Amino acid sequence: MKAIVVLISGNGSNLQTIIDGCANGSIPGYITGVIANKANAYGLKRAVAANIPTTVISHKDYQDRQQYDAVLKEAILQYGAELIVLAGFMRILTPEFVQFFSGKLLNIHPSLLPKYQGLDTHQRAIDAGDAEHGCSVHFVTEQLDGGPVVLQAKVPIFPGDDASMVAARVHEQEHLIYPLVVRWFCQNRLQQRANEAWLDGLLLSVQGYA
Ligand code: GAR
Repeated sequence: MKAIVVLISGNGSNLQTIIDGCANGSIPGYITGVIANKANAYGLKRAVAANIPTTVISHKDYQDRQQYDAVLKEAILQYGAELIVLAGFMRILTPEFVQFFSGKLLNIHPSLLPKYQGLDTHQRAIDAGDAEHGCSVHFVTEQLDGGPVVLQAKVPIFPGDDASMVAARVHEQEHLIYPLVVRWFCQNRLQQRANEAWLDGLLLSVQGYA
């Protein structure tokens, strides 16, 4: 059973799927804490409802990223994290932080990486005329949204879709693939080796290969 810490900034629907996976036994782990950078993040309510301790560390209370990440790191260590799950945590992390937790940091991003790193991914995919969009779970490296991809899911974009319709479709897939990847990690089947992700001794992806 692995100790998991989940970092959020908002709704926490992905957090909910991991709470549920731990509760129903499909994820051999337990969430020791949920940390948010916003006091009004709805995901905090989800954590409280599941009797999970919560911490709010507001980025507004710190002068720079280094200071913020130092406090965040301590909070994560206090929770004894063996896996850190970024679930809609809308903060860029410092290289020092990422290196310290290297191999234990997972993120979900709402695009088919390496396409559409950064923000507004759904609108950008629509504007580009893409017929497909999706989401990616990846290990976090110093490169923003650039770490090795573990698993992706695709959804169609239909003519006339707006960003919220595409986002809803993507969210549904996120809720399937994120708990699955967390399950693999907690089963000791998934590893990051430098810029590669490995599952059951098989190479899943190579950074930069597309
Ligand atoms: C998810 O769509 C996730 O992919 C995205 O934030 C949303 C959080 O939803 N993450 C990013 O954009 C990270 N760059 P949730 O709070 O309902 O889980």
